[in-house]
Amino acid sequence: MKAAVVYEPGGAPRYDDFPDPVAADGEVVIDVKAVAVENVDKAIAEGTHYAAGTYAAEFPLIPAFDGIGALPDGTLVGFGNVRPPYGALAEKCVVPHGSYVPIPDGVDPSVAAVMASAITAMSMRTAAGFSPGETVLVQGATGVAGRLAVKVARLLGAGRIVATGRDDGQLREIQTLGADAVINTAVPDEELARAYLDAKGDGYDVVVDYLWGRPTEILLRALVPTSFAFGKPTRVVQIGESAGAELALAASSLRTSGVEIYGAAKGLDPQTMEEAYQQIVTWTRSGELTFDVERVPLSDIENAWRRTDLKGRRLVVTP
Ligand SMILES: NC(=O)c1ccc[n+]([C@@H]2O[C@H](COP(=O)([O-])OP(=O)(O)OC[C@H]3O[C@@H](n4cnc5c(N)ncnc54)[C@H](OP(=O)(O)O)[C@@H]3O)[C@@H](O)[C@H]2O)c1
Repeated sequence: MKAAVVYEPGGAPRYDDFPDPVAADGEVVIDVKAVAVENVDKAIAEGTHYAAGTYAAEFPLIPAFDGIGALPDGTLVGFGNVRPPYGALAEKCVVPHGSYVPIPDGVDPSVAAVMASAITAMSMRTAAGFSPGETVLVQGATGVAGRLAVKVARLLGAGRIVATGRDDGQLREIQTLGADAVINTAVPDEELARAYLDAKGDGYDVVVDYLWGRPTEILLRALVPTSFAFGKPTRVVQIGESAGAELALAASSLRTSGVEIYGAAKGLDPQTMEEAYQQIVTWTRSGELTFDVERVPLSDIENAWRRTDLKGRRLVVTP
């Protein structure tokens, strides 16, 4: 079969021949239809992600651990849990029986491949208990997941949406998606802290954080009250770390500001996960939620893998 083959850690995949996977007992071969390429796939192939021990233990390998494909009976499914070295960026891959869910009728495979990025935004409800009318701050709103979070916040009925990024052109686009105010984080620390306070209206209820690192550190510091006033409780949902894996958190941030910090997995169980998924499917089918997708054929993987011009569009590879 044809596949995107990585020959050494950190190398870009080459469009090459690779032996077909053969299903062992309890496995099924998937006919791959669409795969979203995300930063995590690159980090795994580079060996810098904790899942590299599972998915990049041996080379050559085929990257990507999930995607959309057809079962042998033709049923379209979202699959995961691929058996390395047969990743999803190939004509075929192999997964354990049951490591897939049907894709609802009427959802294009390329769009289905990106829906997971929108589900992260539902953590504003599943982890932070978001209620309609509340003020939401999306940290990292110019990325794929962040843009979807702005749209999801609007669809969930946010009263006010503040969005951050580091490019004024992209931030103007985010305003057209429904952000009431935008903040450019690429400014000196004190200026950024002031911008967070100026934009907060009557206070941030929920922060959907795809950045962590410097911008979120400055935000958390800015939310510390400067008097003995009671801070408005702000629920921060940690989802991504585009701006840094760590930050320094002052004790006073937690003690006096009323900030609560949750991981995106808080509140997730099979039922809440299913509800979040069905909500995204409903909005997708009705056209209320749209996805910016850059489709490329598998044969273009080497160039596509290196692209840095996507600006909020998700790269989706179709074998
Ligand atoms: N995609 C998912 O389904 C998913 C699921 C769970 C967690 N996550 C995590 O969420 C984060 C975002 O994912 P994504 O898929 O949306 O990525 P993405 O499309 O590549 O977007 C990354 C965003 O972060 C911004 N950024 C990067 N470095 C920054 C810095 N130093 N300071 C400020 N902003 C910076 C980028 O701004 P520019 O546009 O200006 O470069 C871009 O807006 C990642 O950490 C990812 O692992 C994603």
